Amino acid sequence: MTEKAIKVKGLQKSYKQLHVLKGVDFEVEKGSIFALLGSNGAGKTTLIKILTTLLKQDEGTAIVNGYDVASQPAHVRQSFSLTGQFAAVDEVLTGRENLIMIARLRHVKHPRQVADELLTRFGLTEAANRRASTYSGGMRRRLDITMSLVGTPPILFLDEPTTGLDPEARIEMWKVMKGLADDGMTVFLTTQYLDEAEQLADRIAILHEGKIIASGTLTELKQLFPPAEVEYVEKQPTLEEIFLAIIGKKEGK
Ligand SMILES: Nc1ncnc2c1ncn2[C@@H]1O[C@H](COP(=O)(O)OP(=O)(O)OP(=O)(O)O)[C@@H](O)[C@H]1O
Ligand SMILES: [Mg+2]
Repeated sequence: MTEKAIKVKGLQKSYKQLHVLKGVDFEVEKGSIFALLGSNGAGKTTLIKILTTLLKQDEGTAIVNGYDVASQPAHVRQSFSLTGQFAAVDEVLTGRENLIMIARLRHVKHPRQVADELLTRFGLTEAANRRASTYSGGMRRRLDITMSLVGTPPILFLDEPTTGLDPEARIEMWKVMKGLADDGMTVFLTTQYLDEAEQLADRIAILHEGKIIASGTLTELKQLFPPAEVEYVEKQPTLEEIFLAIIGKKEGK
């Protein structure tokens, strides 16, 4: 049996009258990349906030790195790093200063050395002494993720890591995420880009109307949706077609 980095069972959350999560269940294996797909407002950020102890659930349990988010939040907080939907980079500081600041906040030994190693690893050495306000969107996003790696936590949460990046920067970001998973880190990401999930994720879950309505590997999801026959040629469905078919099916009920 493989160990689970995240286990979620029967998770529910409402904002006043708005019932956003209506019983969410899923598990994420250690060292894997897990993609949570969902339309705008599906509850992806809400779920990430609960898993990272920023928000309390109403019902259900969530275990992160073996710790319960409700009863052991301090342990949970030491187990992950979060790159939110909007960049947390300080614009006035340089890239290097941003990293050193985070390393100090996290009580990492030799903050300067750690900062320089990360800058090299993520190709930011040349821009290291420039203020972050002069970075392009892609560089800022890269710095943001680099900052979340200070202290190497076992789990990385990324809320829409590539939204707003150009195709080249996205592909570069995918490489970064794959590399982290290869090094044994568990990566949990939300995305609205179906090709991103298709390219990156070991497992994919679709959050729709408050529940995970489908989950599995890409191959498993493809089996839910029989290939369309175009004359004599079999056509494999794209994840986008699967996603829309599943959502459409549920809405049609
Ligand atoms: N603090 C809040 N108070 C009230 N309603 C909220 C709050 N935060 C989120 N919501 C609502 O809950 C629903 C889910 O929001 P959430 O941000 O989790 O969605 P999302 O899947 O992350 O969307 P997006 O793809 O746009 O980031 C939305 O309808 C949103 O308006
Ligand atoms: Mg969101």
